[in-house]
Amino acid sequence: MNIPVFATPRVYFGDTAMEALRAYNHKTVAIVTDDFMAKSGKTDYLAGFMPQARISIFSGVKPDPDVNVLHAVAAAFKTLQPDVIIALGGGSSLDAAKNIKVTLEALHPKHPMVLVAIPTTSGSGSEVTTYAVISDPEHGQKYPLVSDQLQPDIAILDPQLVVSVPRGVAVDTGMDVLTNAIEAYVSSQANDFSDALAEKAILLVWDYLPQVFEQPQAITPRAKMHNASCMAGMAFSTAGLGLVHGLAHALGGVFHIPHGKINAMLLPLVIDYNAATGSDATRERYARCAALAGIKQGAYPAVIPTNSRVKSTFRYPGHAA
Ligand SMILES: NC(=O)c1ccc[n+]([C@@H]2O[C@H](COP(=O)([O-])OP(=O)(O)OC[C@H]3O[C@@H](n4cnc5c(N)ncnc54)[C@H](O)[C@@H]3O)[C@@H](O)[C@H]2O)c1
Ligand SMILES: [Zn+2]
Repeated sequence: MNIPVFATPRVYFGDTAMEALRAYNHKTVAIVTDDFMAKSGKTDYLAGFMPQARISIFSGVKPDPDVNVLHAVAAAFKTLQPDVIIALGGGSSLDAAKNIKVTLEALHPKHPMVLVAIPTTSGSGSEVTTYAVISDPEHGQKYPLVSDQLQPDIAILDPQLVVSVPRGVAVDTGMDVLTNAIEAYVSSQANDFSDALAEKAILLVWDYLPQVFEQPQAITPRAKMHNASCMAGMAFSTAGLGLVHGLAHALGGVFHIPHGKINAMLLPLVIDYNAATGSDATRERYARCAALAGIKQGAYPAVIPTNSRVKSTFRYPGHAA
């Protein structure tokens, strides 16, 4: 029987969040990340909180991690038997580390491991979700895996880590947050817990993503987007996602466009489609999203600029084309 459940990792947030790492000072720690994190000193920053830990770093994760990188990392860490795996990076590093943890647990079933997820983008929400997306380049596919085993034990949201995210990446990933929240909100599995988190995430994105764009060095908008990303992740981890993500994974496997950017392109079209073909309840849910964002009724098609190459073909019933 599928019993509705809301499960979340312990989430540390704010300026002192990284202090939580001191609990692992005497442990064997594996850090899974990408090249940029290692070269920009972010792995050193982490290690500074665990001066006596035995630390190994794998920094070879690439965007949209594929099956091959999992084999490479699992082999690199095979003899290490870490007590703690720290996933540091964007959704790509987090998802790679989740899969690595499950692989290592299968190799060492008697050696429990703690998975700590430290996101450095405000986008995927992977630090709290039961999802991990993995690519199969040979067949041009991206597979969203879903399992309770993939949910991290601890999430650490340190806004200082996201200030270096370039404006373009911040906007792409921010649109992923909005898409995650809206799809959770209109999902047939939406519930009181996911609604509360999705609504707050939508409000935060609406207020703070433009501020991240206008003042990329300001810490408060970055911190708010980081929280929004985590909340949207909690929402869709219990309520599920929708057509935008279904299409985005299929297109992402072939074209390798950043996940958030594909979502941003598809979201208005899918809203149009679902609003035209879905139930009154679905339309009501979209209308509530619009109301939350302060969009007036009837203003919706203006979301797609008149000079856009993307032409909207669907209209709310009764709305003039
Ligand atoms: N598991 C889930 O629940 C879930 C949900 C949505 C998306 N995803 C997956 O997550 C991936 C996308 O994650 P993403 O959007 O975070 O992108 P990403 O992890 O691919 O990172 C994008 C780029 O940003 C750089 N970057 C990351 N942090 C940075 C920082 N602090 N400063 C400067 N540069 C930084 C990375 O090096 C990379 O080049 C996709 O594979 C997507 O399918 C997973
Ligand atoms: Zn997403």
